Amino acid sequence: MGRAGAAAMIPGLALLWAAVLGEASPSPPRLRLSFQELQARHGLRSFRLDRTCCYDALLVDEERGRLFVGAENHVASLSLDNISKRAKKLAWPAPVEWREECNWAGKDIGTECMNFVKLLHAYNRTHLLACGTGAFHPTCAFVEVGHRLEEPILRLDLRRLEDGKGKSPYDPRHRAASVLVGEELYSGVAADLMGRDFTIFRSLGQRPSLRTEPHDSRWLNEPKFVKVFWIPESENPDDDKIYFFFCESAVEAAPALGRLSVSRVGQICRNDVGGQRSLVNKWTTFLKARLVCSVPGVEGDTHFDQLQDVFLLSLRDRWSPLLYAVFSTSSTIFQGSAVCVYSMNDVRRAFLGPFAHKEGPLHQWVSYQGRVPYPRPGMCPSKTFGTFSSTKDFPDDVIQFARNHPLMYNSVLPVGGRPLFLQVGAGYTFTQITADRVAAADGHYDVLFIGTDVGTVLKVISVPKGSRPTGEGLLLEELHVFEDSAAITSMQISSKRHQLYVASRSAVAQIPLHRCAAHGRACAECCLARDPYCAWDGAACTRFQPSSKRRFRRQDVKNGDPSTLCSGDSSHPTLLERKVFGVEGGSAFLECEPRSLQARVEWTFQRAGEAARSQVSLLPLCCYKQALVPPPTSRRGPALANEALGRVPPLDQVRPGPVRPAQPGP
Ligand SMILES: *[C@@H]1O[C@H](CO)[C@@H](O)[C@H](O)[C@H]1NC(C)=O
Ligand SMILES: *[C@@H]1O[C@H](CO)[C@@H](O)[C@H](O)[C@H]1NC(C)=O
Repeated sequence: MGRAGAAAMIPGLALLWAAVLGEASPSPPRLRLSFQELQARHGLRSFRLDRTCCYDALLVDEERGRLFVGAENHVASLSLDNISKRAKKLAWPAPVEWREECNWAGKDIGTECMNFVKLLHAYNRTHLLACGTGAFHPTCAFVEVGHRLEEPILRLDLRRLEDGKGKSPYDPRHRAASVLVGEELYSGVAADLMGRDFTIFRSLGQRPSLRTEPHDSRWLNEPKFVKVFWIPESENPDDDKIYFFFCESAVEAAPALGRLSVSRVGQICRNDVGGQRSLVNKWTTFLKARLVCSVPGVEGDTHFDQLQDVFLLSLRDRWSPLLYAVFSTSSTIFQGSAVCVYSMNDVRRAFLGPFAHKEGPLHQWVSYQGRVPYPRPGMCPSKTFGTFSSTKDFPDDVIQFARNHPLMYNSVLPVGGRPLFLQVGAGYTFTQITADRVAAADGHYDVLFIGTDVGTVLKVISVPKGSRPTGEGLLLEELHVFEDSAAITSMQISSKRHQLYVASRSAVAQIPLHRCAAHGRACAECCLARDPYCAWDGAACTRFQPSSKRRFRRQDVKNGDPSTLCSGDSSHPTLLERKVFGVEGGSAFLECEPRSLQARVEWTFQRAGEAARSQVSLLPLCCYKQALVPPPTSRRGPALANEALGRVPPLDQVRPGPVRPAQPGP
């Protein structure tokens, strides 16, 4: 079995801890900034409403310059430039009758029987579509936001409330995954009060609603939906597909393994209208494949099996975006998170590969070897591939085959075959991801912003490493964007305004994508930061503009090597070396912690009138932040302690040594 194999053969999930732990003990960030620092010096802004929790939905509207927010009983409209400025807000509570019904059904009146707004989409030029849990009575409404250049307005259109069943979840703990394409909403949710009837559902618009086969575990098996995207495949809109990302219980796992979670990508055709005689008003083009994110090991792979979030990075070729996904583990003993990158071509290839097949209840899942009917299930009726103009024209054998074979045999593997970035034993897990493609002096870099379950944002870049196609993730920043440590529930970027918007249970935060000055006041520090947004301009570490004159801008994201870039920097000729004079027997303050985490401080000791320098052991001194100047020997006169920041290797080459007891002076 190749590595590409095996829907049918999920291994026993030998969790090779040692292998993973050895490879990746949690990497430290190059810059760690607290909530207070970010607020005082780096333009962190916050928004929260009184007695309102659960900021679950964010929608960036660049044209209107607004950030729309969905929360408990509220929709708010904030300024994208400064979310702390006076907000427009509208109250949208659930009616009293619904709250009472919810309470009678055994739910908590104060925490569950509220309208949690879960979903916000731009509907047309004047309205948003908003859906909420409505106290376990899902409901949708149109919110008037006005034309682009008008004064911002925010008004609920109560004349046209829509049933939210199959659009918003019932349970506030569940996520809404949906995409609006034209006037139609494609969503993945539980469509019943008990949270058992999971469906991929198309609603609104003019066509009849369409859904997955109910209660068929081969189609969906207790799924948790994460994201939905509309991804065209060619110029012909008939080939457009909608992709669903979710995790579920593996129906293909051997029963002996118990309940096994797997991550999935599912597809449907936008022009699917269901079957004519069977699969009426059900999808006829639904297929799903396993999404693997694992670290290969000698005795088996370590799987990050819980898909948490997916970000679609659009590239110039709009048919082949990159998919950045974050995963965690469902294991209780092994806790880690990973970022894996997928190409759309690999996703499509899995859907063109063999189908998974199970002959009967006592058989194993195998790769289907028989004849596949024409048109091949999963293909959209289109002039590109055939002569069928509607799924209602599909022959019966196609419909029957599609109904019984929703699962592909091959899995989708990440680009490079392994995670781009992972954290094991870090004390937190990843929950959200968003990415920005940045033009730097030496090429393009994808900057990832990863939200965690402790309210922090990690900024990671992917840098080339050897022959790895995705390179290697480098942790640049750890930002504590909230006062508390509630899990991050949603993240959005405004590339135009260079801002990141982050939501959690307790608040919404806004932070610029870069803080160049925080990397330090020296060319070397700026260069070592390897932040593609930043460059040394001759006097300070500032925002890198690819259009500005490059001659004066120093940046080396690829290698982070200041030795060539910053030498001969006339404005700071001796920045890397600092002298501290000390008196015999006295004490001097030696700074041990460099301003930037990627630099290293080395102190050497030199006696007056002597050329020789001896190394000063740093670690024990750092505890005191003070170094005793060694006592006089035979010679009289002041001693000289000399700090030399000689070599400042990138952090990945620095291995802190063991802490030794203080050594006696010379
Ligand atoms: C954002 O708006 C708030 C409230 O109006 C104001 O106090 C703050 O100074 C503004 N911040 C910035 C960076 O403009
Ligand atoms: C947008 O949709 C709403 C709700 O259907 C409708 O009332 C409004 O007229 C539409 N606006 C435009 C510009 O089409």
